[in-house]
Amino acid sequence: MIRTIIHYPDKRLRSTGKKVEAFTPELQALINDMAETMYAAPGVGLAANQIGEALQLFVVDVADENEPSDLRVFINPQILERSGKVIWKEGCLSFPGVQEEIDRAATVKVRAQDREGKWFELNADGLLAVAVQHECDHLEGVLMIDHMGALKKRLTHRKMVKRSVEQTSE
Ligand code: NI
Repeated sequence: MIRTIIHYPDKRLRSTGKKVEAFTPELQALINDMAETMYAAPGVGLAANQIGEALQLFVVDVADENEPSDLRVFINPQILERSGKVIWKEGCLSFPGVQEEIDRAATVKVRAQDREGKWFELNADGLLAVAVQHECDHLEGVLMIDHMGALKKRLTHRKMVKRSVEQTSE
């Protein structure tokens, strides 16, 4: 089922996800919904609190359009190591129409559980490393706007508030 994606400045995006303790059929259904919602958007990543579920859970798929899908599920993730620096032009499904260059670590080592609850470690670089950092931020209530300089932050905030007011009055 495709869920509604919450847009900034909705306060639910600032919630910290709770640790996932039980790997239930309900959790599997939520993961399926998140994947379906991400692909429909389309986007390369989606965190649970972007659809109003404040849990330590996100999905990513960084495969190119012409490649087979590569869905990855991260539950209770923790970034263990960050190295190097990269500037990446990022977007976010909670900031429609916004693209901004953000400073990130070039590579990360992340530890997380998969959808069955099995722990894994992953070394990521390129877009996957950026996506993991972006989505891990979401789980702590941190958003791309928080990484912007003062002026860009103000402009983006204003643009998004205007957009949400216009949508409410439609
Ligand atoms: Ni995002």
